[in-house]
Parts: sequence; C-alpha cells; structure tokens
Amino acid sequence: MLAQLPDGFTAVITGAGGGIGGAVIDALLASPRPGRVIGVGRRAPHRDDPRFEGLALALDDSQQRIALAAHLEGAPLHLLFNTIGMLHDEARGIHPEKRLDDLEPAALARLFEINATLPAMLLQVLQPAFKGRHPTLVASLSARVGSIEDNRLGGWYAYRASKAAHNMLMRAAAVELRRLNRDSTVVCLHPGTTDTALSAPFQARVPKEKLFTPAFVAERLLAVLGERTPEESGSFYDWAGEPVAW
Ligand SMILES: NC(=O)c1ccc[n+]([C@@H]2O[C@H](COP(=O)([O-])OP(=O)(O)OC[C@H]3O[C@@H](n4cnc5c(N)ncnc54)[C@H](OP(=O)(O)O)[C@@H]3O)[C@@H](O)[C@H]2O)c1
Repeated sequence: MLAQLPDGFTAVITGAGGGIGGAVIDALLASPRPGRVIGVGRRAPHRDDPRFEGLALALDDSQQRIALAAHLEGAPLHLLFNTIGMLHDEARGIHPEKRLDDLEPAALARLFEINATLPAMLLQVLQPAFKGRHPTLVASLSARVGSIEDNRLGGWYAYRASKAAHNMLMRAAAVELRRLNRDSTVVCLHPGTTDTALSAPFQARVPKEKLFTPAFVAERLLAVLGERTPEESGSFYDWAGEPVAW
C-alpha cells in the first residue's frame, strides 16, 4: 500500500464520518504500514487501534483548521486524504439544480465553501507539515461531473461548478507545493458512484454493478494513489486509474 511512503507514515483523513472517508480509514488501518492515522470529522471518529487518533473538528471553520495543524505539532505529514464534500443538504433546502431557474446564490456559495474553499484552505494551513524532503501525497475527492469537458447533460450547477473550482485550486496548489517539497504529489480523484448518504437520493437509476461499496472504492483509490509520481502532481484520475478530462 502507498509504496511511495515510508513505513510508519502519518496520514490525515478528513470527512471521517462519511461513507468513503470511513472506508479509507479502515483500509489504512488494515495495513501494518501506517504509524499514525488521524481521522477528522465533525463528530469524533473512533477505531479500536492504537495507531488511530480521532479528532472532532468542523473544518469549514478557520480556527478548527488551525487546531488540526497544531495537533500535528510540526511532524511531517505523508498523506492527506480529503473526502469532505456535499451535494445536498436537506436541513438547508439545498438540492442539485435541474435548470437555471433553480439556481440560488446561497446554495452556490455553500457548495463552493465546502467543496472548493475548504479543501484549499486545508492545504494552506497544512503547508508546514508538507514542507521538507519527505514524500507527501495529497488526494482530494472530486467528481467526474466536475469535468467541464465531460458536461453534456447540464444541471447540477453548484456541485459541478464547485468541483471544477476544487480541481483548479488543487492544480494550482500542486505547482506551489512542489516548491515546498519536490517529493509531493497532489491528485484529484473521482470515486465512481458509491453507496453513501451523498448519493443515496440519486441511486435509483444507477445499475447495481455501477454502484460501488465504500470499501471497494477506498481500496481502488488507495491503489490509484499508490501508482502516482510527483511528475503527475496536479492531475485528475478515476477509481480505475484512468485520467479524467478537466
Ligand atoms: N458517493 C458518490 O457517489 C460520489 C461520487 C463522486 C464524488 N464523490 C465525492 O466523494 C467525497 C466523499 O463523499 P461520500 O460519498 O463519502 O459522502 P458522505 O458519506 O456524505 O461524506 C461526506 C463527508 O463530507 C463531510 N462534510 C459534508 N458537509 C460538511 C460540512 N458542511 N462541513 C464539514 N464537513 C462536511 C462530512 O464529514 P464528517 O461527517 O466527518 O464531518 C461528510 O460525512 C465527496 O467529496 C463527494 O463529492 C462521491
């Protein structure tokens, strides 16, 4: 697993309470290789493993992002796996838009905040932990529907646009992180349609064989990430290891 990283590597997984985030934590802990696995969720995640640290932090808040960086106490970070993302929020009445008439500035702003701004601000605050000569991998979950080239169906304006913005922010950060650490690799990953709370309202028309379990996706995404090199930093791959068009 993640052959680029040294034995005993340190990993931070954000979105630990989510379907894919939880499965990534389980997949990492199933391997003897990580030395420290830090799961971050709005509710503290728990795992029965001495290598696991669960933090309750809402990372859309700048002070709580600073608390995450402080928790690392200057230790080098080898893996940041960001799985935070939102598509809908029943409590706030946010649903994917079908047409221009459905666009709401507040919903657009909220999806940008969670899907694009938050991941970029996470990289900003963790820069000291990336800086150095240790190998460092950053994976941030995107979505194929954020591909501008691939958009032939329209709709889902806020989600698509916020993921496209996410991708640009990750690409720009990849260029800059290389200056802090020549052995850094930043990738956007598309997990495929996965059976989680995020996709639950939209699964009806998904053929059974195309609806993946979080465990399968976690294993695939870690395998795809494990094949990446620093030369490929700033790119976008799917769960099968195929590049996705911007
Ligand atoms: N499921 C799919 O079919 C699919 C397809 C393409 C892309 N993706 C992407 O994959 C990623 C993971 O999604 P998932 O399917 O695992 O969904 P999920 O189960 O809903 O998990 C998403 C997690 O994001 C975090 N999050 C959501 N809103 C947040 C907020 N306001 N502030 C802070 N954290 C927030 C939460 O983590 P905590 O509960 O730990 O706070 C939440 O559990 C997302 O970026 C999503 O866009 C998913």
